[in-house]
Amino acid sequence: VEAVLDACLPPNLIPHSLQEAMRYAALDGGKRVRALLVYAAGHLVEAPIERLDKIAAAVELIHAYSLVHDDLPAMDDDVLRRGKATTHIQYGEANAILAGDALQTRAFEVLATPGLCDDAAMQLILVQLLAHASGASGMCGGQVIDLSSTGQMIDVPALEMMHIMKTGALIRAAVLMGAYGGTEMLPDAALEKLDHYAKTIGLAFQVADDILDAEGSTHDLGKTAGKDALQQKPTYVALLGLSEAKKRLEMLHGEALTAIEEFGVSAVYLRALADFIIKRQN
Ligand code: IPE
Ligand code: IPE
Ligand code: MG
Ligand code: MG
Ligand code: MG
Repeated sequence: VEAVLDACLPPNLIPHSLQEAMRYAALDGGKRVRALLVYAAGHLVEAPIERLDKIAAAVELIHAYSLVHDDLPAMDDDVLRRGKATTHIQYGEANAILAGDALQTRAFEVLATPGLCDDAAMQLILVQLLAHASGASGMCGGQVIDLSSTGQMIDVPALEMMHIMKTGALIRAAVLMGAYGGTEMLPDAALEKLDHYAKTIGLAFQVADDILDAEGSTHDLGKTAGKDALQQKPTYVALLGLSEAKKRLEMLHGEALTAIEEFGVSAVYLRALADFIIKRQN
């Protein structure tokens, strides 16, 4: 993933300062969970690796942009990300905003590479899936709800909707895009099960993030721990408490594994990633 992202962000483009900030934000850090989900779902349909590389890179570029903007003073106002100074601390706020913007457009440029899919209509579906997941009905919409609910009490259904949008949507798209990377489509019933898995682990991912924010250390997380409570963020931990949040996480884990039970050995990586998302320590 690192090599593929590196190739997507050549260091010698002008202006160098923008390219440097983009590379700083996207390379050398991050668990690459969304990329791995692309490959894991692509494995189900024996998708060609070169195609999955581009799809995975596009998803990680969007994710990297979302983190740069999430950390901005106007949003979560964070100074540490992936064990390094956040992009705006390192390069200034205006450059961080523009690096985020350019990472986003680069994502779509990579995904739109001519000939990436045998069928151009299928490639357009991939573009649409990624745009939909990152836009107003997905990540950006969820981030708006997050910011506008800060310091306020929201109920569990509203919290769940926010998590599904801000974090779940991109994770769900990663899985679906991997599955659409094959030469043949999965049958509808299988696709539905895979989508159920994707939705469930997408939500689980943010529940785990909330728990880690409360329990983890800044050193282990590579980002400032304990910030959600400090900023009065609506989280599963704030609403339900740690032990109930952990129960939800276990439930979601079980639900995700059940959804892909029938895929057998071909879902080995999807299972491993569901386990990782639940048990991760950072
Ligand atoms: C953090 O995502 C932001 C959320 C959406 C919860 P990750 O935990 O995947 O961050 P990296 O990519 O590993 O740094
Ligand atoms: C991030 O949620 C969601 C995004 C879409 C980036 P958080 O604000 O909880 O992510 P961290 O904890 O800063 O990584
Ligand atoms: Mg945030
Ligand atoms: Mg944040
Ligand atoms: Mg968080």
